Amino acid sequence: SILPVIMAGGSGTRLWPLSRAGYPKQFLVLSGNESLFQLAARRLADLAAPDFDVSAPCIVGNDEHRFLVLDQLREIRQEPSSVLLEPKGRNTAPALTLAALAALEGGDDPVLVVTPADQTVTDAAAFKAALQDAVRIAAEGAITILGITPDRPETGYGYVRTQAEAGGLAVAQFVEKPNLETAQRYLAEGGYYWNSGMFVLRASVWVKALERFRPDILAATRAAWDARKTDDKFVRPGKAEFAAVPSESVDYAVMERCPGTDIPLRMVALDAGWNDLGAWEAVWQVAEKDEAGNAFVGDALIADSRNTLVHATSRLVGVVGLTDIVVVETADAVLVSDRARSQEVKQIVNRLGAEQ
Ligand code: GDD
Ligand code: MG
Repeated sequence: SILPVIMAGGSGTRLWPLSRAGYPKQFLVLSGNESLFQLAARRLADLAAPDFDVSAPCIVGNDEHRFLVLDQLREIRQEPSSVLLEPKGRNTAPALTLAALAALEGGDDPVLVVTPADQTVTDAAAFKAALQDAVRIAAEGAITILGITPDRPETGYGYVRTQAEAGGLAVAQFVEKPNLETAQRYLAEGGYYWNSGMFVLRASVWVKALERFRPDILAATRAAWDARKTDDKFVRPGKAEFAAVPSESVDYAVMERCPGTDIPLRMVALDAGWNDLGAWEAVWQVAEKDEAGNAFVGDALIADSRNTLVHATSRLVGVVGLTDIVVVETADAVLVSDRARSQEVKQIVNRLGAEQ
């Protein structure tokens, strides 16, 4: 069977001040009328087809957001198979390990369709076809990532170089978050894809890969899993044990290390209008805009401005004569930023620390 796994434990700090510790971006409505998390859950349920038996999703997220997860799923008429609750995020490798251990509990070895909770896709049919391809390949034992054709030297993504192989594409090289110079070189050379952050693999293949590359993460997460407490759909790994798990992303822990080993890493290209809503710039990119390129949400009045995003949540916001600016208003904080530099909002959040 196929088990969707949604990783929903990130903090989304670059979308401050809308994204907060208690209400991070994956649970916000930023595009259309459902939250990014709801859009992800819906896309996964839509993978179902006569020969694609898709189970209810497994959600891995922060304990603090457990009711957001349940309520938002209920709103779209979904029930999770389980909600694995981290006391504190240890990045995606431990999160996926919890999901794999939970999936293997039943004696089954399902194909996990793992996705972030903070992306948008515009072409649902292309998404479904690519993911179903990836499921077929992963069922045979490979880790299969979904790759995107890059259009700029983005340094916040992983890059993969592929190599044609019988029945598809093998990943010859995986480089997580290269520096700008390297990313520019990859774009100039061509033949590279971005890692979308979505991937498909059997639960046992993940465990095997960790045994090979990061047995420390596997052992520590297993200890936390063995100390778990279950409360209906909520499963809580042992708190002290989980805090001791090394914090690492799936990309550094496993993906980068696969090429050239006997853990096959393959790629399926995804051409479905993918966007990772990492920062305000990306939110502006996917937003509906007027003739002058302005996008606004909430009570906003825009005069003589171009390519500007105004997001108002609690007050009327008026802007005049702005170009390429982002304005985000909330009840207790306001952000005004150069649109092209919206990634740097992280600096402000870092200064705010845990208070944000
Ligand atoms: N449960 C849980 N616990 N989820 C987490 C945690 C955690 O500790 N940390 C992050 N997540 C979730 C986030 O909410 C997000 O949905 C997903 O995992 C990916 O994490 P990010 O923190 O957004 O990763 P990234 O953007 O730096 O990089 C990844 O995604 C890129 C594409 O968007 C990598 O996979 C890159 O290679 C990739 O290009
Ligand atoms: Mg991300």
